[in-house]
Amino acid sequence: MATEAVGKKILTIEGVGDEKNLHPLQSIGHTRVAADCGFCTAGWVVTAKGLLDKNPNPNEDQVKAALAGHICRCSAYPNIIRTVMDSAAVMRGSKTPIEAEPESVVHIKMPMVRDYSTSGGHLAGAEVIEGTNKTVTKKWQGYPPENLNVLGKARPALPEVSIPRFTGKAQYASRVWFPDLLYTRFLTSPHPRAYIKDIDTSAADTMPGVKYILTYKNAPKLHSPNVARGRILVEPLPRELNLQGEVSAIVVAETEDLAQDAADAIKVTYEVLPFASLLKDSMAANAPDLGHGKGNLIRHSFSPKDLPHVTWADQRGDIENGFAEADVIKEFSYRFAGGVSVPMQPSGSVAKWDGDKLTMWGMGQGIYPVRASLAAALGMDVSKIRLINKWNGCTFGAARMAAERFYPMIAHLAKVTSRPVKVMLPKDQELAQLQIKPETITKFRVGAKKDGRIVALDHEVYVSIGDLDFGVHADGPGNAANQTELYTAKVPHWRSTWSAYRTNAPRPGPSRSHIQQETKWSWENMIDEMADAFGVDPVQYRMIHMTQLNPVTRAILTNDAHDGGAAGRLQGIRLGEAQSRCGQQSRKIQTRFRPRHVPASWREHGLSRR
Ligand code: FES
Repeated sequence: MATEAVGKKILTIEGVGDEKNLHPLQSIGHTRVAADCGFCTAGWVVTAKGLLDKNPNPNEDQVKAALAGHICRCSAYPNIIRTVMDSAAVMRGSKTPIEAEPESVVHIKMPMVRDYSTSGGHLAGAEVIEGTNKTVTKKWQGYPPENLNVLGKARPALPEVSIPRFTGKAQYASRVWFPDLLYTRFLTSPHPRAYIKDIDTSAADTMPGVKYILTYKNAPKLHSPNVARGRILVEPLPRELNLQGEVSAIVVAETEDLAQDAADAIKVTYEVLPFASLLKDSMAANAPDLGHGKGNLIRHSFSPKDLPHVTWADQRGDIENGFAEADVIKEFSYRFAGGVSVPMQPSGSVAKWDGDKLTMWGMGQGIYPVRASLAAALGMDVSKIRLINKWNGCTFGAARMAAERFYPMIAHLAKVTSRPVKVMLPKDQELAQLQIKPETITKFRVGAKKDGRIVALDHEVYVSIGDLDFGVHADGPGNAANQTELYTAKVPHWRSTWSAYRTNAPRPGPSRSHIQQETKWSWENMIDEMADAFGVDPVQYRMIHMTQLNPVTRAILTNDAHDGGAAGRLQGIRLGEAQSRCGQQSRKIQTRFRPRHVPASWREHGLSRR
């Protein structure tokens, strides 16, 4: 491409227009909310300008064809196409005013926190505690106010956050540049599991432009574990590499190409170890022990003693009695192979020291807790770190930890080279670092009466957790309550067990809700299959089993209530209480409903006390 450009005029986003003189594509794109994260914006605006320069009156198909090479990970496509069509009309002299319209703006009419949470800290009354400083954020619950000047009306995005995305001024970490900037390249393992017996950097050390090479031999010892969202991140340069793509060495050089050449010259002697990338392999009787003597199943002090094969369990009633009562017993098994939320912007960061002060440009959804964690890892006073994370080309949660895991190392490399250092992972290497929706296997054993009513339900979930030392969502009732609350309230006997297994697979974590949709998908499949088995309409079958809430108190109604039981005898799981028990790691959630006063104004909005 570079050779094709010789002798040609090159236009970039900076030349299309600036904030004082916006091109219609920029001003209308802002009005139409055609940029979400904005990482793709500079590219399509320039291409669209090229189209309109040649064809002032394109039809929609021509616009789509011209922009076919652009990917918008945020899926702003409809607004992008409308922007180009409207810009063409304005440039042809149309005087029709372009205003923000409801299609461009999401109107939220739902409670801000739902009764059926997607978990991830969003349950009503939940608190999110982050970082070593334990920053507490309380989740607000309620409805957005109405009849104000802004909410409920179509408005463009805030200019200060939107316009820079259209003018190329948004300073994503990937765009941060200094004249003396150094670049990094990673050397990664080609093996699904391996131990580094030795690593020889002597040839690479003396190659042109190479400034520093970091391996397990000279990696700094962190003062405290690097933490993101309360989770300890795996050390960035381990000697035992748990998956293909794990990092063996980081090369710093004058250019990315020189760094890559040096990385290619490093000789690593690997001892290839037996591996288990899939759940079935990790759970097999002859599986390699990935836990170094602890086994592959994650067990905690709160794991149920009577269920040695699980990480966590919840139950109600007596499961064996339930199956004894059942007329029909059916079994179902569902497997989700895993999924990756790949952001548009590469995972990366830039570190720059000024004396003893560090400035870090990162990506993710946190600033202060991330800064606190970085300060703790480096053993620094937090006030000496400035963490800049104003612009993100999507992270989906997944990229955050892929970037943050390496912050301490990039800061260290900037220190030892006395120059700013940048890391931007190529997509293939990023895939090994992104947190994923992990592989899960969900099994159901369902006991029902002749009419199809479920009376016993055994729910088993198996989760692949890579090299983490905790079971992620398999660790506690926050997720299990979230998973079981929709179809179990009317089932007198049920048990839900969660088993987390170490694997040689990428680490699970925030990635547009992990262990959520895929396990709920298995519930819906099970309900469909049960409805089919009993010849009942699947919607009707759901209505029979679906949880209903007391309209005033929002307590979950169980069979007692539906069968006419007195309110005082209601047994139910109050959602806030279920969530608050996360910390207690309680095995059983069986709370007795006690009516509490709820103001009339709250009731109008469907709110309850928590
Ligand atoms: S706005 Fe297009 S990738 Fe985010």
